[in-house]
Amino acid sequence: MLMESMALSEREGLFPTLNENNIDQIIAQLSLKEKASLVVGDGYKSMLSRVLRTKVPVPGAAGMTRAVPRLGIPAIVLSDGPAGVRIEPKRRGQEGTFFCTGFPIGSLLASTWNTEMVEKVGEAIGQEALEYGVDVMLAPGMNIQRNPLCGRNFEYFSEDPLLSGRTAVAYVRGVQSQGVGTSVKHFAPNNQETNRLWNDSRVDEDVLRQIYLKNFEIAIKESEPWTVMASYNRLNGVHTQEDRWLLTKVLREEWGFKGLVMTDWTGKRNTPSQIQAGCDLMEPGGKSQIKELVKAVKSGELQEADLDICVRRVLELIVKTPTFKDHVPSGKPDLEAHAAVAREAAEEGIVLLKNELGTLPLAKGMTAALFGVGSYQLLAGGTGSGHVHRPYVINLDQGLAEEGIQANEPLSSLYANYIQKNSPKKSFMSNMLGSPACAEMPLSRENVEKAVGEADYAILTLSRQAGEGGDRHLEDDFLLSDAEKQMLKDICEVYHARGKRVIVVLNVGGVVETASWKHLPDAIVLAWQPGQEGGNALARILSGSICPSGRLPVTFPVDYFDLPSSAHFPYDYKGGSSMIPSGKKIVDGENVGYTEYKEGFQVGYRYFSQPGTPEVSYPFGFGLSYTQFEVGEPVWTEDSVSVTVTNIGPVAGKEVVIVKNPYLSAFGKTRLLQPGESQTLVLQ
Ligand code: BGC
Repeated sequence: MLMESMALSEREGLFPTLNENNIDQIIAQLSLKEKASLVVGDGYKSMLSRVLRTKVPVPGAAGMTRAVPRLGIPAIVLSDGPAGVRIEPKRRGQEGTFFCTGFPIGSLLASTWNTEMVEKVGEAIGQEALEYGVDVMLAPGMNIQRNPLCGRNFEYFSEDPLLSGRTAVAYVRGVQSQGVGTSVKHFAPNNQETNRLWNDSRVDEDVLRQIYLKNFEIAIKESEPWTVMASYNRLNGVHTQEDRWLLTKVLREEWGFKGLVMTDWTGKRNTPSQIQAGCDLMEPGGKSQIKELVKAVKSGELQEADLDICVRRVLELIVKTPTFKDHVPSGKPDLEAHAAVAREAAEEGIVLLKNELGTLPLAKGMTAALFGVGSYQLLAGGTGSGHVHRPYVINLDQGLAEEGIQANEPLSSLYANYIQKNSPKKSFMSNMLGSPACAEMPLSRENVEKAVGEADYAILTLSRQAGEGGDRHLEDDFLLSDAEKQMLKDICEVYHARGKRVIVVLNVGGVVETASWKHLPDAIVLAWQPGQEGGNALARILSGSICPSGRLPVTFPVDYFDLPSSAHFPYDYKGGSSMIPSGKKIVDGENVGYTEYKEGFQVGYRYFSQPGTPEVSYPFGFGLSYTQFEVGEPVWTEDSVSVTVTNIGPVAGKEVVIVKNPYLSAFGKTRLLQPGESQTLVLQ
């Protein structure tokens, strides 16, 4: 594309062609309309190319910018994220496929507490983006997990700003090492999906800066993402995309951000105000916004100089991209190597929550009765823009078979038939944003009894799915449903009566209630949504091929209402994401709903670690292992803290060291330590 436009402008000999050093000269050549077109994206051409039948470089990519061919300015391609590249896996009239690796969700990546591992994931995602023609990844998602019911928590990292910030730094460095940009999102505080386009997050400035902005600040200062995505919501009355205080004063003047700010995929808002605030690129963008900007400059409502600032930032972004540099995407990233990275990451982020009587690891060569639809149809990730068109998902039964553990018949066939008959039909939306999960199979006590025959133990997978555009609910989501509780009770009674063990696998995107039932099974494994290799990773943990080393990045409370934020979260709201509770369409400018962050600093363990607060079910940082470690006293120097860790247990494993002071102030993870081996970790 660039070659064509260069040829055109050079042939004509009339215009300069964009390069890194002539941006001023290019701006001087641009007409007002061209300037406006550069800050307004090219609509849904790429995201909906399959239905619109548009010819675009990367079908299914979330958005593009607009080209100005006469000046050698190409259109660049933006794609979701965060659990991999989200593009169409097949292209009309083209051979081959464009599947992308489905990596584990953000919460699992944070559970690794291993920034090197996350950086490796970022590199793999960056390489896929590069070889499929994407210039900027709309990732990582890094809003604070304020409340477990936020429907997008799975895309986010943690309740703690340091863990969230450092995980984001690793992700950004990984992707950008491949010459592809990132967009840290959603700036900020976008901590719920209910009424997300309009909701006003009302947060004290101190709390905002120390919790909800802190993680972004770390990411900006330590990894220099090429772009930032402003959120849908308002912050203290102002849409973040029109908030000059947030986008210019804090982000650029205080933190020194030099890159570009784009909108989230908002419909038209007050475009001149967005430009004035320092929001440089309107996505997905529409022609009316170009007209609006031209008119605003002509009428004097908007200074052309303000528009020029944004145009400059768009051009500065463009000259860094693979498209501008004439990179020809091979269409052949190393999917095999990336699947191995996805599996390793999942293995490091799966958290062992309970293991009594040495239930785990499971002996190989045994037979497992696998209960729960999720055992046969593992949820690899969430839905919405965070969905990835991955080539396959390894289920738990398949992973266990690789580890020499067979799924018990006829139970497996019963589930297979049920799933075949009851899986939701594919639709246009599910093809684009991920299929809803198959509902749980009703299980009679009789079926549980029948299944016990040959099986040496039972594994029950409990699954939860959430996604962009809606929050989770308390009933049947945060809480187990009555049917799930009954199933768990029946399985435990029947198996325990025969001296056989029961293991629960949580295949969830966010926190669920565990306190009321965790005494029933013998072991509990939190698999999160572990990406396409999830079944393999999980099976390797269950069989002991891998020693678990994940730790919780978020608190599991006993009761939802123990969380201070629960009093200020729309937990019982059942409407869509852009409607007010009455069901009336919201009109901008109206006072349209708000969330007061009245809990202030009392987020997650910051609250529960204070005296007199309720017990939690599993605390922040919790996770068991198959081995034991001795962790020495921390040694402090002026700018670092180091700790020596020794594996004093029976098997090789990794250990996470967490220093709280009183809040998380440093952490690190060892390499794989053999029994008896030590490592001195310098914590960050
Ligand atoms: C989401 C963003 C995403 C964008 C493009 C929006 O609805 O909030 O996270 O990057 O769509 O798909």
